Formats: sequence, C-alpha cells, structure tokens
Amino acid sequence: MKKTFLILLGFISFITLAAFTTFDPPKFKNLKILPKDISEQALDSIMEHYSISLGVKCGFCHVHNELRKTWDMASDAKSEKLIARKMMLMTNGINAKYFPPEKGVKDQQLIQTITCYTCHKGEAIPVDMPQAKEDSLSNK
Ligand code: HEC
Ligand code: HEC
Repeated sequence: MKKTFLILLGFISFITLAAFTTFDPPKFKNLKILPKDISEQALDSIMEHYSISLGVKCGFCHVHNELRKTWDMASDAKSEKLIARKMMLMTNGINAKYFPPEKGVKDQQLIQTITCYTCHKGEAIPVDMPQAKEDSLSNK
C-alpha cells in the first residue's frame, strides 16, 4: 500500500514537472511577422491599433465560430488577415527605409513612424480623394 502510494506520488510529480518544463507551448500559434515571443500585452495593443486604424472589429480579420461562440485567432482563413500581413510588411518596409531606427533601440518592430492609421484614418479602404473639395463643391 505504502509502496503503491510512493510510486503514484513519484508518477504524479513527474507528470507535473514535465507539464511545466518540457511542454511549454508558445502563447501564439501563427505569428509570421510579429516576434514569436511577443508579450500578450504588446500583441493586444497592436491588434487594438489595427482595429481602430481601420474602424473595424476583430472579426474583420479573424474567424469567429458563431455556433460554438469561440474565436480562432490563429486561423488564416480570412483574406483580410492575409492582406493585413502584406500591409504590415509594407509599413515595416517604409519605416525601415525612410525612417531608420536610432541605434540601440530595442523592439524596433513595435516603434513605428508610419502606422496603419497614417493611411487608414479609421477606414478599411483609405479615402483616396481629398474630401474637403467635394464638401465645398456641394455646399455651393
Ligand atoms: C486588420 C486585421 C486585423 C484585425 C482588425 C485584428 N487582427 Fe489580430 N491578427 C492580424 C494578423 C495579420 C495577425 C498575424 C500577425 C503575424 O503573422 O505576425 C493577427 C494575430 C492575432 C493573434 C495571434 C493568433 C495566433 O495564435 O497566432 C491574436 C490573439 C489576435 N490577432 C487577436 C486579435 C484581437 C483580439 C483583435 C480585436 C481587438 C484583432 N486581433 C484584430 C490581423 C488583425
Ligand atoms: C501607405 C498607406 C497604407 C498603410 C501604411 C497601411 N495601409 Fe492598409 N491599405 C492601404 C490602401 C491604399 C488600401 C486599399 C487597397 C485597395 O484599394 O485595394 C489598403 C487596404 C487594406 C486592407 C484591405 C481592406 C479591405 O476592405 O479589403 C487591410 C486589411 C489593410 N489595408 C490593413 C492594414 C494594416 C493592418 C496596416 C498597418 C500594419 C495598414 N493597412 C497600413 C494603404 C495603407
């Protein structure tokens, strides 16, 4: 009886140790551009920035299962998410080329001069004509 208990205890502690050390799954499953070890807080604030910049909700780029009421943020099923990745590369590229980082600054990818908002200004498709002109014409 005592022996069985000890063996069981040993087994349980092994499993527990293994769970906390060996299998430490990455928090996010499908990051191709953002740093894979990004903190949850940093990722949240970036996603918040995308949503506000485009004037959309998370579901614009991410898959929501209506029946189960669950999100699959890692899924690449929506074309908007794929476009967003290209936009991230473009934005990073503009910043790297025309607004080079100061030496010694960490987390460059998170510090940007040109952002999604610079172009989008709260619209999913940026306005490509000066609106003031149209308004002033219609006011006449
Ligand atoms: C304009 C599109 C867009 C919007 C809006 C958006 N996301 Fe994302 N999200 C992305 C892209 C693109 C990635 C993948 C980034 C990469 O590959 O590095 C991503 C990745 C994620 C991930 C990581 C998933 C994983 O496991 O790989 C989470 C979590 C996430 N978004 C949450 C949110 C939440 C919550 C919102 C709403 C507040 C939101 N996103 C709004 C485009 C968007
Ligand atoms: C230099 C300007 C510029 C920047 C910066 C920019 N975008 Fe865009 N984006 C555009 C333009 C222009 C379009 C519309 C393209 C078209 O009409 O096909 C667009 C379209 C999109 C679309 C598709 C919208 C739709 O309804 O089809 C997504 C998603 C998007 N951008 C996400 C982003 C995200 C996320 C960022 C920041 C990482 C970003 N964009 C930064 C100019 C920009």
